[in-house]
Amino acid sequence: MINLKGKDILDGAQFTREDIDYIMALADDFRTQLRNKPAIDLMRGYILATLFFEPSTRTRLSFETAMHRLGGNVIGFSSAESTSTAKGETLADTIRTVDQYADIIAMRHPQIGSAREAASVAKAPVLNGGDGAGQHPTQALLDLYTIQTELGKVDGTTIVLCGDLKNGRTVHAGVELYKHYKCRLIMVAPDQLKMPAEIVAKLRAHNIQVTETDNLEKALAEGDILYMTRIQKERFADVAEYERLKDSYILTRAMVERIRPNLTIMHPLPRVNEITPDVDTLPTAAYFRQVGNGVFIRMALIAAVMGMPV
Ligand code: CP
Repeated sequence: MINLKGKDILDGAQFTREDIDYIMALADDFRTQLRNKPAIDLMRGYILATLFFEPSTRTRLSFETAMHRLGGNVIGFSSAESTSTAKGETLADTIRTVDQYADIIAMRHPQIGSAREAASVAKAPVLNGGDGAGQHPTQALLDLYTIQTELGKVDGTTIVLCGDLKNGRTVHAGVELYKHYKCRLIMVAPDQLKMPAEIVAKLRAHNIQVTETDNLEKALAEGDILYMTRIQKERFADVAEYERLKDSYILTRAMVERIRPNLTIMHPLPRVNEITPDVDTLPTAAYFRQVGNGVFIRMALIAAVMGMPV
């Protein structure tokens, strides 16, 4: 029996395969229910706080959409400058304060470990919407759900992870989920932006086949899914290094058509240059459907941690 009531959602490693199956089934259920009506009266009277100390479009707005679609209410902020953080308030005190107002907290913060720190002082469940270059577990779940909905399966697939695998929190969280499946991972990155060695070692210890390369075209020839990521400018101490690396990989429509016409193309977004706009109209370009899936997955997570009967 899966029971996520009262749980914080902090990193991809916390989920069992049963948790993942439960959340994806709940997301499917919400998707079906929303075909016939704009909202579900499940969270009426409850308040979600969205505390975003770092920029976001999708994560904040999809959390807010999810709560509205569940019939609940939302408070929050989208930049730290407009809050008492700018006067020197600590994260812990901000969380203790919001805990007096809200029943559930979704947050994003530039520091690795910030969501865990928040969870340690909050009574309300804390959902990590990204902690620096650390983790982004709700994105990882919606990514996995997208693979499941696009291909009908995760087992047996070859997933190409490309771009800034050192700083990308979506891939750090994602591989923690992929390790529950029989899939192969090809990691494509320049030397400076490779997936941290301890993460690769952990995957191999789980018998996940991992190949590391800097050659995107060779990887695409073997891949079922490309999970492209942005080079994370905001994580670079040296701007010149970012400038050298920012266009390491650019996926074009011609590449897809020449190398792997059936490739399912995903991206957590935002993109900069790494997927050219002519890719967008390919039927297998899934990244905007991926965005939509974020609402169903976040509805499922909110309902699950609030212990709502569904
Ligand atoms: N995928 C994602 O985290 O997007 P935002 O930065 O817009 O929230």
